[in-house]
Amino acid sequence: MKSRVEELKSLLNKYSYEYHVQDKPLVSDAVYDNLFSELKKLEAESPELITPDSPTQRVGNELLESFRKINHSSRMLSLNDVFSREDVEAWFKRIDKLLPGRKHEYFADIKMDGLACALVYQDGLFQQAITRGDSYVGEDVTANVKTISSVPLRLRESSDQKAKTLLKGRTEIRGEIIMYKVDFENLNKERVKSGEQAYANPRNLAAGTIRQLDTKLVALRPLRFRAYDLIRENEQEVPTHMEAYRLLRELGVTANTQATTFDSLDGVLKYVDEWDTKRHELPFITDGLVIKVNDRKLYKDLGVVGKQPRAAVAYKYAAEEATTILKDIVISIGRTGAATPVGVFNPVSIAGTTVQHASLHNADEIARKDIRVGDTVVIYKAGDIIPQVEKVLLELRPKSSKQFEYEKELKRQYPELEFVRPEGEAVYRVKGASGPLLLKKGLEHFASKGALDIDWLGEKNVVALVDAKLVHDLADIFTLTKEQVVELERFADLSAENLVSAIKAKKTSTLPRFIYGLGIRHVGEQTSIDLAERFKILNMLSIATLDDLRAVNGVGEIVAESILGWFADPDNQKLLEKFEKLGVKQTFESKAKGKLHGQSFVITGTLETMSRDAAANRIRELGGTFQTSVAKGTTYLVMGQKAGQSKADKARSLGTKVIEETELLKIIG
Ligand code: IVH
Repeated sequence: MKSRVEELKSLLNKYSYEYHVQDKPLVSDAVYDNLFSELKKLEAESPELITPDSPTQRVGNELLESFRKINHSSRMLSLNDVFSREDVEAWFKRIDKLLPGRKHEYFADIKMDGLACALVYQDGLFQQAITRGDSYVGEDVTANVKTISSVPLRLRESSDQKAKTLLKGRTEIRGEIIMYKVDFENLNKERVKSGEQAYANPRNLAAGTIRQLDTKLVALRPLRFRAYDLIRENEQEVPTHMEAYRLLRELGVTANTQATTFDSLDGVLKYVDEWDTKRHELPFITDGLVIKVNDRKLYKDLGVVGKQPRAAVAYKYAAEEATTILKDIVISIGRTGAATPVGVFNPVSIAGTTVQHASLHNADEIARKDIRVGDTVVIYKAGDIIPQVEKVLLELRPKSSKQFEYEKELKRQYPELEFVRPEGEAVYRVKGASGPLLLKKGLEHFASKGALDIDWLGEKNVVALVDAKLVHDLADIFTLTKEQVVELERFADLSAENLVSAIKAKKTSTLPRFIYGLGIRHVGEQTSIDLAERFKILNMLSIATLDDLRAVNGVGEIVAESILGWFADPDNQKLLEKFEKLGVKQTFESKAKGKLHGQSFVITGTLETMSRDAAANRIRELGGTFQTSVAKGTTYLVMGQKAGQSKADKARSLGTKVIEETELLKIIG
């Protein structure tokens, strides 16, 4: 643990320097915050590891040498972050307690993700622009800010009496310098085209631009200013935040029109929910909201703790990035025969969902990013976008890590298959297996006796349906209509009817049959039953971790990897969603209470009174386990006709009871 603390410290300090001093962030805020909290946690567990140079002990920010330092008229504070409804509620309660018996209003606005800046006006004329700096002292960026067209060089003459008074004396306007998403994208496109490295996000580009020493370059960048504060010596001139916004607009300064007031917690929470989705439609990037006590006298009276006022908080929406550790890379063979590498992570919460795997796309991508098992990686997930590995934090790579050898790994995970990598393609494919061929095999299996058992869907009908392009995946069979099927040569009115209704009858099947039908490598009938017993519903199986899976009877490393890889494959995820949309359901009845629960059977030779399958089914119905070979712990070996003695000897040596068919019949009734 000590070495992890040391590594985190030096890495975070490096990030911090690049970000604050050089304006060249190496990672996003979310990544920084993640590693920062990890360090904080480790230090809390072992306080003896805290050193004065730990980023957790840092107070102010360093300043660049090249700009003149200016004292702020009043501190430029920052805000405490809150992350949940409960946090907001707790903050409300604290405020109510500090203001007993006084009714007060709350003010809420969108939090812009840019660079804080103070504009000083004297008698309505723009004088100076100062960055936040260390909150007491900022940098004089007047020449650069002057180039921003949304910063008025002279405040607007307004007919409003109150606004008029602000044109006399000193008026300070604080706000955020931002860049619109479209402008950012266009600028970045240009940069990449001319061979320069792209900027990480609009905020960094805005911050980098404002610190440019060449003002001409700044003028070429489409920056904007949006105000959130208005400071006058006589504070009574601006009694509330809402009034500040109104006056700002009167003065010709942009202030968010989304800002509004509330008199209850409920209202604020609704606003929080509303903007959680709507924020993506805003032209600029926001990661949250600002909530304040509207009355500025109360706001001031509530005071400051550290660098943050008590009377305001920043509500942060769930981060869309997080760090986690890559535990494994499993390769899944999709329905087209393409091999897709899938990263398996320590589960991590991103933007409200738990992420534990992501496609790594192909061998080249793994090589390009040099992704290795054991690496600490940054996972990015925005909105509905499928999670991605954004980068590897090389500094945190374990010394013993090895480069991922794709071909070797393919051989290990699929020893019996041969792969080819077609000219000019990035993916490896199963040799000789075209998409339609694999689909035919898969569908035949899906409809087979042990799976959905759809009588009319044998090999020939499967081939006809796939060749006619009526079926592109397993789920498509549930969309077939009699009219479509009857068009095919093989079918007449009655047979088409029979097929469609046979399929329809299996829209609901049992969970073990369905799992088996999916055709996940190494998952046979018995494993399907054991998985169903353990996870009860398909959704739970689909989010099972490697450890969850390994804990299931008969599921070892290879089987667990195969299951995980299957559910992590984006194609399969889409398939499962499609089943659900089509109303395909699974029922599950636990056999754990059956009279044969805990007993396992192996049958050798042929039975006289029933088929082996029928016996297996009966055993499973009663909660027993049907195995294909005797192993340690097998309860019974059933000797059928022409059974070899060597098996019986092995069974006896393992303590397995050796019985005849007649005895089996007594047991299974
Ligand atoms: S009010 C005490 N309103 O977020 C500071 N700030 O973490 C009160 N910000 O320092 C600021 N949008 O740079 C306020 N609508 C908004 C904002 C906003 C962005 C920035 C600002 C502030 C930081 C707080």
